[in-house]
Amino acid sequence: MVPEVLQSTRPGLHRRIVDLLRPKQGWRILDLGCGRGEQLAELARFVPKARLVGIDRNAEFLTAAEARLASLPGRTLLRCADLDLALTFTDRSFDGIVSHNMLEFLEYPVILLAEAGRVLGEHGRAVFSHTDFGALTIDAGSSDLTSHIRHAYASLEADGSQHLDAHLGRRLVGMVSRCPTLRITETAVHIETSARLDGLAANRVRDIVWTLRRNLSRHHVTCGELERWRAELESADRAGRFFFAEPVYMVQARRLT
Ligand SMILES: C[S@@+](CC[C@H](N)C(=O)[O-])C[C@H]1O[C@@H](n2cnc3c(N)ncnc32)[C@H](O)[C@@H]1O
Repeated sequence: MVPEVLQSTRPGLHRRIVDLLRPKQGWRILDLGCGRGEQLAELARFVPKARLVGIDRNAEFLTAAEARLASLPGRTLLRCADLDLALTFTDRSFDGIVSHNMLEFLEYPVILLAEAGRVLGEHGRAVFSHTDFGALTIDAGSSDLTSHIRHAYASLEADGSQHLDAHLGRRLVGMVSRCPTLRITETAVHIETSARLDGLAANRVRDIVWTLRRNLSRHHVTCGELERWRAELESADRAGRFFFAEPVYMVQARRLT
């Protein structure tokens, strides 16, 4: 039994990525932008004899990943590195590669995709997945405020400290198809829904409010509107009128030999 703090926050999504990767025992699998190690933990449960490597630039996340993976089988190596730079692995050193919701942070995501193709073995598979933040459905009754805030969030772009692209999800298939080292073998869309303002829906709403607060003047949203919006969502939730859906685009690819 996995302790509660180490359980995945998105078990359906992490399992779906494993299903698309179809890993085999003994595979060497790389997670690009592994964060707190939730996907690696799901892989360790599914293929306990795999060798797992996670890369992230956030040392705190890697410490959390280490704690999460300590109790699970499998050999794991976690590395702190900047994925805007070339990967330090030799050609064909992995059988599997996964990367979820990371490409939007990179200045040149196409370079990382090309690098992924380089380090992927001939019979391996890569799965890239990305939420389309521009296609969130948030329904709390007939509110113009929700449309206004959703639009502001969807039009967020690079703000100097990070390279946000709310539409990376819908651009993912095109981006991978233009990559000179990869060929697409399958695509999928995973949609998570919730009729309650909790779990993923609550996290996403919190993220929208937090992100827009940092960019108030650029998107013509006021603090008052954000507070009113949050109150509207909570009230809709209490009345059973809340609905949330979030699409994640997924691409399975192989090395282009
Ligand atoms: C939205 S999180 C996704 C984490 C994880 N893939 C998941 O699905 O739970 C994005 C991750 O990418 C990492 N990241 C962003 N830019 C990076 C970079 N240039 N190099 C390495 N990691 C980066 C962040 O630290 C963060 O852990």
